[in-house]
Amino acid sequence: MPNRPFIVGNWKMNGIRAMLSEARSIDRGAARHPDVRVGIAPPFTLVLPMAEDMQAAVIGAQDCHAKPSGAFTGDISAPMLADAGAQFVIVGHSERRAMHAEGNAEVRAKGDAALAAGLEVIVCVGETEAERDAGNAESVVTGQVADSIPLGEEVASRVTVAYEPVWAIGTGRVPSVADVGAMHRAIRAKILEIYGEGGAAVRILYGGSVNAGNADELLAADEVGGALVGGASLAADSFLAIVTAASGAGGE
Ligand code: PGA
Repeated sequence: MPNRPFIVGNWKMNGIRAMLSEARSIDRGAARHPDVRVGIAPPFTLVLPMAEDMQAAVIGAQDCHAKPSGAFTGDISAPMLADAGAQFVIVGHSERRAMHAEGNAEVRAKGDAALAAGLEVIVCVGETEAERDAGNAESVVTGQVADSIPLGEEVASRVTVAYEPVWAIGTGRVPSVADVGAMHRAIRAKILEIYGEGGAAVRILYGGSVNAGNADELLAADEVGGALVGGASLAADSFLAIVTAASGAGGE
């Protein structure tokens, strides 16, 4: 089922072992919706115990270093994540781009490292509010796609793109369904330009204030292949409501 929707929880810097029971609840819910691929990206410290626990959900990380090993104090490499049981890595999240000054070239290098370690990669892109107000949202986002996704048609099947408008993250504000659809169509066109036909299978997730109340309409927008969920992924109830919405919308 290569095109089943992919719903990914990004726990950010939240979660200690006491939260493993919440992840187990999410996993049990995921098992009830086999037409949806469910992922959780906990902090690094929980990747191993969660990966050992999960039956239906897949576990990923929120970042990795571009090098496989070396003198990089405090960093975690993609092979380490693979060894801990991760199946995917999120790279280029806007919080990394903004707070750790990660540019497109570094994001691409991290994505390449993840693929080299046998992982899948979710590459995040998104415009700031000022860029949208200036009418540049589409050029900024397609530029980020062009410059930060890993290259080579053979890797397309392991690449997911997440469109997350920076101004929608954690704010409760979301773009209109029409704006989401327009941006996702533009991203699809850019992906096809980069990967050729292989780009048709790349999932494009929407992220930014997705919750149980808006998931239905956001997931129904053009070219939306799932969601990257922050705040609402921390509790099984709210996250599984989004999974359920995707289950209803699945099968395209
Ligand atoms: P949010 O975060 O759902 O809390 O807006 C999404 C994200 O940053 O991935």
